[in-house]
Amino acid sequence: MTVIRFFSGEQIPVEMHKTKILQKLNLIPIDKRLEAITKAGYNTFLLSNSDVFLDMLTDSGTNAMSDRQLAAMMIADDSYAGSETFTRLKKVCQKIFDMEYFIPAHQGRACEHLLAQILVRPGQLVPMNYHFTTTKAHIVSMGGIVVELIHEEALNPESSFPFKGNMDVDALHELLSDRGPEQIAFVRMEAGTNLIGGQPFSLANLKNVYHVCREFGVPLVLDASLLADNLYFIKTREPGCKELTVAEIVREISRHTDVIYFSARKLGCARGGGICTTDQDLNARLSELLPLYEGFLTYGGMSVREMEALAVGLEETLDEDMISQGPMFIAYMVEELERQGVPVVTPAGGLGCHLDAMRFLDHVPQRQYPAGALAAALYIVSGVRGMERGTLSEQRNLDGTEPLANMELLRLALPRRVFTLSQVKYVIDRVVWLYHHRHLIGGLEFVEEPETLRFFLGRLAPIGDWPDKLAEAYAQELAVSHL
Ligand code: F0G
Repeated sequence: MTVIRFFSGEQIPVEMHKTKILQKLNLIPIDKRLEAITKAGYNTFLLSNSDVFLDMLTDSGTNAMSDRQLAAMMIADDSYAGSETFTRLKKVCQKIFDMEYFIPAHQGRACEHLLAQILVRPGQLVPMNYHFTTTKAHIVSMGGIVVELIHEEALNPESSFPFKGNMDVDALHELLSDRGPEQIAFVRMEAGTNLIGGQPFSLANLKNVYHVCREFGVPLVLDASLLADNLYFIKTREPGCKELTVAEIVREISRHTDVIYFSARKLGCARGGGICTTDQDLNARLSELLPLYEGFLTYGGMSVREMEALAVGLEETLDEDMISQGPMFIAYMVEELERQGVPVVTPAGGLGCHLDAMRFLDHVPQRQYPAGALAAALYIVSGVRGMERGTLSEQRNLDGTEPLANMELLRLALPRRVFTLSQVKYVIDRVVWLYHHRHLIGGLEFVEEPETLRFFLGRLAPIGDWPDKLAEAYAQELAVSHL
C-alpha cells in the first residue's frame, strides 16, 4: 500500500495489488434486511451471509489470499504422518520467529486451549495487556484468573497515544513481587490488542515486560494473531524502528518472548493456528496433547492445503506493502468519520474501524447493549455487518451478575485486501447518516442467553419498535434523494 498524492490535492491509499478472483455481492432491500435481523435475533453473528452486503464482521479467515498462496495449495502433501507440507511450514516458522519448535493447531483458540491446559493451575493469575474473549474463557475454565495491567490511555477512545496496547510494566513488577512466580501461570501480551480497538504495543514495552518476566522466571506468551498490524505500527510509529526491516522487528519480538501462538485465520491469511517455542519441555507436553484434541503432530487439525497457504502467507507478512493495506484503509475510514463528527476510537488501529457506541448512543443505557444495538441499526440501514465488542461480548460472573464492558464498540473489520475504497466510502456515508439519526436507535434485551461466549449464539429483541421507525426514516430519505 502506498499513499499517492493526486493532482487534485487528495491524499488516498492506493493498493499495490489487483483483484484476480471475485465473489458477487448482494444488497437486499431494507424491508428484507429488517426481516433478516429479526430472524437473526438482533445478533449479526446469526445473519446469513446472503443477506449481507459488506461483511465487516471479522478479518478471521476472510482475508484475501494471494496468487502465490493459492498456487502453493496445489503442492500440498496430504499424508497423515510425516507430511512434507508440515516440514515446509515448520521451516518457515523457524526462519521467521527463530524458535525451534512448532505445534500446529486448527485455529487460535485451540492453541489457547492447549496452553491453558498445560500452564494454568486453579487460582493462578495470568497478567495481560488486555483479555481476548476465547483466551479468557480457556484460562477461566482451567481455574485461572485474568489480571489486566493496561496502559492508562488504553480505554480512552479519544486518545492519540500511539501504543495503547502497552502493558503497565510497573504494575507487572509490583504484582510479580507481591504474589511470587508460583502464583503466576504466565504473562500474556496480545499484539494489535483486539478488544480495545486493534491497538498495538511498542517493541520497547514488550522488551520491558520480558525483562520483568526474566527477573521472576515467569514465561512470557505472545498472542501474535494480529501481529501484522502491530508490526506496521512499530515500523511507522516507534522511534528507532523506522530503519529496521519488518523481518528484523519480528526477530526482536521473538527474542523477547518465550512462546508465540497465533490464529492463522488472521496472521498469514489462511485458516489454522500454531504455537512456536524454544522450550523443549513445553513442546513435549504440547506434542502429547495434540493427537488427543487436534490431530497428528504433522497437521494438528489443519487442512494441509491451508498449511501450504499459511507458509506463503507468513512470508508475505514480512512485506511492508502487505501489512500496510489494512491499517491504511482503516486510517482513511477513521479519519473521515472523525472529520464528520462521528465518535470513533483513535488513533486508528488495526483489524478495523471501531465506532464508540458509548458516545454514539449516549441515550442507550449500557445494560441495553448500545454496541449490539448499533450493529443491528447499521445492518438495517446499509446491509453492512459489523461485530459488537462490548458488554454482550463479556461473560457473566460466577454469581450470575453481568459485568459491564470497559468499552462499547462496534467493530467494522476490514479484512486484508478484500474491500475497495468505494465500498469503504459507502460505509462512511451510511454511518454518518445513522449518526445524524442516532436518536431513532434504542436498546436490546436478551431473549435467549447462552452460558458461555454468549455473543456468538445469543438471541435478542429490540426494546420498543425503534427498528421499524429507523427503517421508515431511512426509506423516506432514500425516496427523497432519488427524486
Ligand atoms: N486471539 C486473538 C487476538 C484473536 O483476535 C482471536 C480471534 C483469537 C485469539 C482466537 O483465534 O478465532 O482462530 O480461534 N479473533 C476473531 C475475531 C474471532 O473476530 O476477532 P481463532
